[in-house]
Amino acid sequence: MKNTCVIDIISQKGGVGKTTLAISLATYLASYLHLRTLILDLDPQGHIAVGFGKNRDDGMYRWIVKGQSIESVSQEISEYLYIVSNDQSNLYIEEHINRASFREYILNDLIQQISGFDIIILDNSPSSTSVMHIMGLVASTHILIPVTMDYLSLDGMVHVLKTVRTLANYPNIVAPTILGCVPFMFERKTSETLINLVELQKLVGPSLIMPFVPRDTHVREASSRGMTIWDYCPNSPAVIGVIGKSTVINSRGRIGGLLHVGEQVVEKLHLERK
Ligand SMILES: Nc1ncnc2c1ncn2[C@@H]1O[C@H](COP(=O)(O)OP(=O)(O)OP(=O)(O)O)[C@@H](O)[C@H]1O
Ligand SMILES: [Mg+2]
Repeated sequence: MKNTCVIDIISQKGGVGKTTLAISLATYLASYLHLRTLILDLDPQGHIAVGFGKNRDDGMYRWIVKGQSIESVSQEISEYLYIVSNDQSNLYIEEHINRASFREYILNDLIQQISGFDIIILDNSPSSTSVMHIMGLVASTHILIPVTMDYLSLDGMVHVLKTVRTLANYPNIVAPTILGCVPFMFERKTSETLINLVELQKLVGPSLIMPFVPRDTHVREASSRGMTIWDYCPNSPAVIGVIGKSTVINSRGRIGGLLHVGEQVVEKLHLERK
């Protein structure tokens, strides 16, 4: 898996936009830049498959526990985009891992054997104690943390940062680089948002604050129809951002949006269109 970036999308708080970010970023990288992209669903909710209008299945179980090939367990979404789904069989993955020695490395070792992808994206469950979280962090080269502008979400983010710093103390583990925090479901006009944005800047520093994704009902509508927001409403604020003043704007001359997040990820990782 030479030169493959593994991006772990993680937050210990539920419902902050992890799956939306995983699906949207993967769609941008695959459909617009033709980068070969694979999403691994580490969450038994199986929302990655559902978000693409597919049936969730036990792909992750068959890959990790049964030793089947990545080709046979993955589902094709489009020419450059594949997913490996998850479901309640995740329980057996956790049992398998808990019995194994060097369990933190299991996912990393399997990912190392994958070839043919430029980007691998990991979508996590919100469960903070899950062994899947640690395996994901050990296997990843970069992390992205979606965060909503409320106290508990910021607290969840602090936990992730602490875990990453702890990993850096282990001699055999290369801790992932933090790409940034993505303010999700952002409402520019509320005072809670603005107070917590200042708090977020203090916690991570301005350079790690990625473009925000505005709150936009089109996102919920898209997921309820099993469509990505890029297909359902590509000109929605959640995709192209909003009009406003900023020194940093996206390629549409707007600020924020999933397009802007994708562009920043591409810039930070020095990715190029194929
Ligand atoms: N920008 C947005 N505006 C409005 N709703 C959004 C936005 N982004 C995501 N949502 C909605 O918020 C809900 C939670 O999003 P999502 O499932 O991506 O979060 P999650 O962190 O993956 O949740 P979980 O922790 O359960 O895995 C979904 O219904 C989704 O459609
Ligand atoms: Mg999710």
